[in-house]
Amino acid sequence: MLARLLPLRSARNAVLSQARLLSTTAPVCKSTYDSPDFTHYLNKSKGSDDKSRDFTYFMVGSYGVLGAAAAKSTVESFLSTMSASADVLAMAKVEVKLNNIPVGKNVVVKWQGKPVFIRHRTQHEIEEANNVDISSLRDPETDSARVKNPEWLIMLGICTHLGCVPIGEAGDFGGWFCPCHGSHYDISGRIRKGPAPLNLEVPQYEFADEETLVVG
Ligand code: FES
Repeated sequence: MLARLLPLRSARNAVLSQARLLSTTAPVCKSTYDSPDFTHYLNKSKGSDDKSRDFTYFMVGSYGVLGAAAAKSTVESFLSTMSASADVLAMAKVEVKLNNIPVGKNVVVKWQGKPVFIRHRTQHEIEEANNVDISSLRDPETDSARVKNPEWLIMLGICTHLGCVPIGEAGDFGGWFCPCHGSHYDISGRIRKGPAPLNLEVPQYEFADEETLVVG
């Protein structure tokens, strides 16, 4: 009987020892799978972001500098157009030597693209201009209000009707006649007959000396 039980006991002990071995070794089992190391790529990616950011800052800064330079250039160009150049200033005035104009003669000069009539009036013409009753005029104006020196009558040669250039020493009043629609101006350039509404315009001028006229 005992002899039959011994093999069973030893078998049971063997199973128990095997189970004990499993129970003690289970907690220390480790996976043999090695997870990949991405550290290198992560660091590399981070470095790329920094470079990209630096590039963006550089481009934004560059565009800012270029934009400021362009704005400065534009402002300078604009300001330069505001100041008159030397040739424009020269055109703003015209100088005329009066000693070349005989008494009783007209001269036409160009000023700012417009004709300017200069009449060296005779004493008779001056008296005639002053003997007009200005109340009868369409555009009442005394002769003395239109001249600085009675000998010299200076006017723009542009008809006040529609802008034609009147003809000198012509018309019914011994002054200027505009053939476009028949306006007559007297020896002071005042409108006397025809459709023109106003006297011939007197431009800004001065006498630099007795023999020099500056128009403008
Ligand atoms: S433009 Fe001189 S009369 Fe008409």
